[in-house]
Amino acid sequence: MSKADDHFFNIFSVVLGILVAISLVLFAIARFIGTPFEDARADNDPKVQQQISERLAPFGRVAVAGQDNSALAMMAAAGPTAGGGAGAGAGPAIPASAEEAYQVGCAACHSAGIAGAPKSGDKAAWAPRIAQGTDTLYKHAIEGFQGQNGVMPAKGGQAAWPDDLIRQTVDYMVAKNQ
Ligand code: HEC
Repeated sequence: MSKADDHFFNIFSVVLGILVAISLVLFAIARFIGTPFEDARADNDPKVQQQISERLAPFGRVAVAGQDNSALAMMAAAGPTAGGGAGAGAGPAIPASAEEAYQVGCAACHSAGIAGAPKSGDKAAWAPRIAQGTDTLYKHAIEGFQGQNGVMPAKGGQAAWPDDLIRQTVDYMVAKNQ
């Protein structure tokens, strides 16, 4: 190798080194300038926002007798059957029979006697209630009530269900416990 070649290779490696250094610096500057914009865009993206609020949404809702349950009523209004014209959209289906309604909306408390609910099949617990007359039972089931044993939530929390379905479900429960 001649002296001129040596010289060339030395210069050439220095130039290469400088070019690599420059590209690293450019990369760092681009990251420095761009990252805040990227973050801001992700934060403002409606899809990201939606996913976040879905993750933060409460898992279930409970209606409590005698308290403001209007948020549940709004959800109910979005349901298919109860909403009338306005908020027709996806919502929980309304049971077709009293038996189905009992299974879906009432059994959780009344089958096992949870939270002071008169247990289905416990005729002794039902007798004095049935003795009040069906009108009182209807009223307590539809509007909810605070008894000595616990709170019966209005419509068992199924705000979207028509009053008539609740009356039929009460009839069904009474018939089972007479
Ligand atoms: C979250 C639990 C819960 C759910 C769900 C529930 N109940 Fe009850 N229910 C109760 C409790 C507790 C009582 C008793 C309250 C008391 O007497 O202290 C009760 C009492 C009743 C009574 C007796 C009322 C009276 O005057 O003695 C009827 C009728 C009744 N529920 C019907 C229903 C129907 C119909 C459904 C479904 C649509 C339902 N319940 C869903 C908790 C529940």
